[in-house]
Amino acid sequence: MKANHGEMGVRSWRLDCHVVAGDHDVAAGDLRRSLTASTPTISPRWFYDDAGCALFERITNLPEYYQTRTEQRLLDARMDAVVEAIRPTELVEIGSGSATKTRAILGAMSRAGDLHRYIPFDISPGAITQSASALAVSYPGLRVHGVAGDFSRQLGKIPRRPAGGTRLVAFLGSTLGNLEPAQRRSMVRRLARLLGPGDALLMGTDLAHDTAVLVNAYNDALGVTAEFNRNIIRHVNRAFGGDADPDAFVHVARWNTRASRIEMHLRASRAVDWNLLGLDIRVHVPEGRTIRTEISCKFTSGEVAALYADAGLTPISWDEDALGRYAISVAIKD
Ligand code: SAH
Ligand code: AVI
Repeated sequence: MKANHGEMGVRSWRLDCHVVAGDHDVAAGDLRRSLTASTPTISPRWFYDDAGCALFERITNLPEYYQTRTEQRLLDARMDAVVEAIRPTELVEIGSGSATKTRAILGAMSRAGDLHRYIPFDISPGAITQSASALAVSYPGLRVHGVAGDFSRQLGKIPRRPAGGTRLVAFLGSTLGNLEPAQRRSMVRRLARLLGPGDALLMGTDLAHDTAVLVNAYNDALGVTAEFNRNIIRHVNRAFGGDADPDAFVHVARWNTRASRIEMHLRASRAVDWNLLGLDIRVHVPEGRTIRTEISCKFTSGEVAALYADAGLTPISWDEDALGRYAISVAIKD
């Protein structure tokens, strides 16, 4: 683990980085398996190098991508009441990214006078460094303890919950939807294990609704999502000595009714032989075949309630926008 401290020796923020050699070997094994499977896939974690994080930020501002602004409005409207009910002293955020919406939570905790520690957890050390340093300036006295790691297996690296304090864990942006059903159940159970009695989990989930609106959100007119999708090839090339041309792939986003999800793929516009020296493989993608890069599942309130119940959590609130497109919900550990 590498640890960095910010602010010229003043320990207002720190970063524990677990995205290092040992983790890289495990991630390489996963990627080798998924790229050589009969239906090739790349985990969405590979979207988020520095360029991918910047492209995601552009997506969040697109007119078609209603998710971010809708979640922001729900958090702005509801967080004072949620904080009043939970009285959290620290916030742990999984897949924190730029932590822009986080300010709605930290602001409510600060107004309640209970803001002590913020723990952003993300695969991108760069995203944590940027957000941690900015938040430490905005909230003097707040201890920011970033953890860079893979949420599918490194949640155990999160510092222990405070004795005598109360923890709120946030999993925003509907990142839960990027997981397959079994992975989602496992994820919510593992999030519940970060909680003690009286602690709470806050999740943002995109809802199943008008499929045309959903497909547009992943097919924006400016082509930012297409660039975000193709950037995964650049990141994998760099991480594993690959030679594929990102421009040999066309962005595809389609609705899968049976699984209630958007799927993003990269379709080869010509045959591609992708040598990945670091994985010791060559992936042949015939013209017209696709590599799936993301699933983005859309939920019902019942499905989210079932996930909480499966993890032994009790839902206490559900708030969705007037169009029924997006919800934030809170569940507590008794
Ligand atoms: N929560 C933010 C960002 C959502 S984008 C928002 O709502 O806008 C998804 C975030 O999860 C990115 O910051 C990405 O770097 C992170 N992420 C994706 N896969 C991850 C993984 N396997 N482990 C940890 N973080 C991951
Ligand atoms: C982070 N995640 C929930 C986003 C989503 O909507 O599935 C990522 C994204 N992919 C394309 N646009 C945004």
